[in-house]
Amino acid sequence: ERGEYRHYMLKEIHEQPQAVADTLEGRIAGGHVLTQMLGVDAEALLARTDSVQIVACGTSYHAGLVAGYWIESFAGVPCKVEIASEYRYRNPVVRAGTLFLGISQSGETADTLAALKMAKGRDYVARMAVCNVPESSIVRESELVLMTRAGPEIGVASTKAFTTQLVALALFALELARAKGLDAARYADGVRQLEQLPGLIAQTLKLDGQIRALAENFAAKQHALFLGRGTHWPVAMEGALKLKEISYIHAEAYAAGELKHGPLALVDKDMPVIAVAPNDHLIDKLKSNLEEVRARGGELYAFVDETVAHGLDADHVLTLPACGEFAAPVVFTLPLQLLAYHVAVLRGTDVDQPRNLAKSVTVE
Ligand code: F6R
Repeated sequence: ERGEYRHYMLKEIHEQPQAVADTLEGRIAGGHVLTQMLGVDAEALLARTDSVQIVACGTSYHAGLVAGYWIESFAGVPCKVEIASEYRYRNPVVRAGTLFLGISQSGETADTLAALKMAKGRDYVARMAVCNVPESSIVRESELVLMTRAGPEIGVASTKAFTTQLVALALFALELARAKGLDAARYADGVRQLEQLPGLIAQTLKLDGQIRALAENFAAKQHALFLGRGTHWPVAMEGALKLKEISYIHAEAYAAGELKHGPLALVDKDMPVIAVAPNDHLIDKLKSNLEEVRARGGELYAFVDETVAHGLDADHVLTLPACGEFAAPVVFTLPLQLLAYHVAVLRGTDVDQPRNLAKSVTVE
């Protein structure tokens, strides 16, 4: 089943152009997201929605964090994002007009399912699931469902499930934004970015050889720091999680603006720093954070897009295609997946079955 690929994880990374195309299939037509993608009652429920509570675990939580930025920025609707194991054991205040949104690849994660069940008795507009398994408990328990259609994911480290979650959540954010009266030009631009994604992903995966070369330097390190800002902070978190899970290198992600509030003390020549640096409104801020890293002798790996490749002083620069706000978190995730993969292979770990982890966490 792995075919030509050495590991399921690598196969699943390379399936992403198709998986994302499948997520988009039949959900966009004539430059619009089709409201029916969420079911027949969706229009009325979205009209009543004036805030969103996202709950998930692990990689799915990172997808939720990205979606939180989109929902507030595009739909103008407040959005909170929380880890399911925290949410379920506190007493959350539910404001009227809040939509509950659970995100789960497997649809069986114990904490996410428990949070969803707990939400039932509360005053939510509805409970919605973004999920990859149609027959799962989380799908059965939810009133609104948006399937990610990634296909089966065998590797324990989530890859195509994450990027298809991002795409499903982008569709949802655009749809909510339309219901809230987002300006037409911005909406059209968002839809266009999603339509171009499968091609951009395929183009980015061609950088595999360059990323493998970067991994050679990396494989002997003990620690790594991942930096991003805005939606690319959770993308950095996802990069750090991938590296931890499969290579067992200790990695942490920080919002780049937090650097001088503590983690800068860790930076020296033995600390590789990976910067996720697309050309968004935060790029100049990020560049000055990266200068601080260089000034402390940190070894800087900058993942930039072609429009910022100039004027960035780094030891290693990987140049990705330029893309907009919806496409960039997906595109910039890809080199982080490949970096973790190649580092793990070089270190000889069990890529598809990392120690101590299970694919689906059905007990707490
Ligand atoms: C990391 C990973 C986990 C899962 C988490 C939630 O690569 O796969 O962090 O994302 O256990 O699982 P689901 O999405 O099935 O609820």
